[in-house]
Amino acid sequence: NNSQATQLKNDYQTVTELYNHILLKTVVGEKALKYLQKRHVSAETIAHFQIGYAPAANDTVVQFLQTSNRSGQEIISSGLFAENDQGEIFDRFRDRLMFPVTDQSGNVVAFSGRVLQTDDQVAMAKYLNSPETPIFNKSKTLFNLAAAKKDIRQQGEVILFEGFMDVISAYQAGVLNGVASMGTSLTDEQLYLLNRITQRIVICYDGDQPGIKAAQRALKLLKNKNFEVAIVVIPDGQDPDEFIKAQGSAAFVKLVRQKTLSPTAFMIEYLSRQFDLTNDAAKVDFLNSALEYIGANDSPVEQELYVKQLAQRLNISVTAIQQELQDKVRSQK
Ligand code: GTP
Ligand code: MN
Ligand code: MN
Ligand code: MN
Ligand code: MN
Repeated sequence: NNSQATQLKNDYQTVTELYNHILLKTVVGEKALKYLQKRHVSAETIAHFQIGYAPAANDTVVQFLQTSNRSGQEIISSGLFAENDQGEIFDRFRDRLMFPVTDQSGNVVAFSGRVLQTDDQVAMAKYLNSPETPIFNKSKTLFNLAAAKKDIRQQGEVILFEGFMDVISAYQAGVLNGVASMGTSLTDEQLYLLNRITQRIVICYDGDQPGIKAAQRALKLLKNKNFEVAIVVIPDGQDPDEFIKAQGSAAFVKLVRQKTLSPTAFMIEYLSRQFDLTNDAAKVDFLNSALEYIGANDSPVEQELYVKQLAQRLNISVTAIQQELQDKVRSQK
């Protein structure tokens, strides 16, 4: 109910401020602050995203909220705590960097907590998210949407990232219209939210194999929706955050503004990597897959454009490819 939701939002706001204070002002928070500095996250960025640190102790928030004056069920359903076999309640988030997640009005409704180790040292889940609560529904939430709304409208497009750190690094690079889904694949509900503020989506997922796969899935979901879609492929298998660190902000801005691919161009690029194009049989298989996609998705003008590109790339005549495409379109009907 309403008062419970209000109470929960108050708690999340209070805990956000607590974690942020611990990060910035206490000895316990120093190693987390060092970690952020190592990742080039500035003080302004920390303040903007209200990043914090949850200490290793298991009762920081328990103590702070003085939970005794609420019922056990209320406490557990807040998502801030867990309960052991003995019925003892302890902090869910421990020894993690804390990223507050807001609802559409900008109220903190959840956290995502990251371990401080680098990827290859991580034995447990790298990111731990809040569970679903009366105020938090993962599939209807996009990280940074409330804060980015104005910039999304101004730019006329939203940039969709895979990770929190990508949204944050992009922000620092001056790209303010980025959001990320909560470590899951994109949902229809999230697209619905976005469609109320923009008609254009730029997918900017990680450049590694999982990222490319996820972009493909996103394209499928975006089919026949009211969006113009473009895709940015980050080179060298990097993610946006790694690219920005390696190449700088200006290079990233340029990539996002000038190097976007249409869904078909992206699919052709993706497919071409699956085949050994020095081999004739593989060349034919590649062409078939590409034409299948083009036949099913593109207008006559677009089809001609991609047919010409493929002809040049594969050194096959436009006429032959055109013929093949017609056969495909006929058999698809
Ligand atoms: P950094 O290593 O901090 O740069 O994170 P990243 O954003 O590059 O993460 P990665 O590419 O590995 O994963 C993308 C997104 O998936 C993250 O931002 C998280 O939202 C989510 N994710 C990654 N690992 C986990 C995990 O162990 N558990 C959950 N629930 N989500 C995860
Ligand atoms: Mn700011
Ligand atoms: Mn990844
Ligand atoms: Mn990543
Ligand atoms: Mn990363």
